[in-house]
Amino acid sequence: MEDNRDKSEVTSGLAWKEEFCLGHDWVDAQHRKLFELVSGLVEACSDGSDLIRLKGTLDFLVNYTVQHFDDEEALQLKCNYPGYERHKRLHDDFKATVGGLVEKFTMGGSSTELSSDVNKIVVRWLVNHIQREDKKIGQHIKNLAAEK
Ligand SMILES: [Fe+2]
Ligand SMILES: [Fe+2]
Repeated sequence: MEDNRDKSEVTSGLAWKEEFCLGHDWVDAQHRKLFELVSGLVEACSDGSDLIRLKGTLDFLVNYTVQHFDDEEALQLKCNYPGYERHKRLHDDFKATVGGLVEKFTMGGSSTELSSDVNKIVVRWLVNHIQREDKKIGQHIKNLAAEK
């Protein structure tokens, strides 16, 4: 049965790795926190009996993600990052995707379904986005520092 899946299988994509670091302290700390929150959500899903608590965990993750995007976008503006517009669009698209996921869950989705969506959509996006997009901001900031 799906609920009996091995926990390591469920959380396998969630381990924080040093290679995700951009070399920018508070951005890295926020990314690490995002991983913790996603991991906590997936764990809460495995004991899906308390759906109100689960919704609270999900809402907290969504709010933290929105705050992180705001902070990261402000950082890009501050350092005149040339890819700002595109990066903001990627954030906005993801916010819409997560909004759809929250709505689906609120309309009666199960914790198993939520866990599967979080793993398939949120974890994959987070890992790819940090490695492919956020790292470019880190590199831009390093280049600026080297020019000084
Ligand atoms: Fe980003
Ligand atoms: Fe980020």
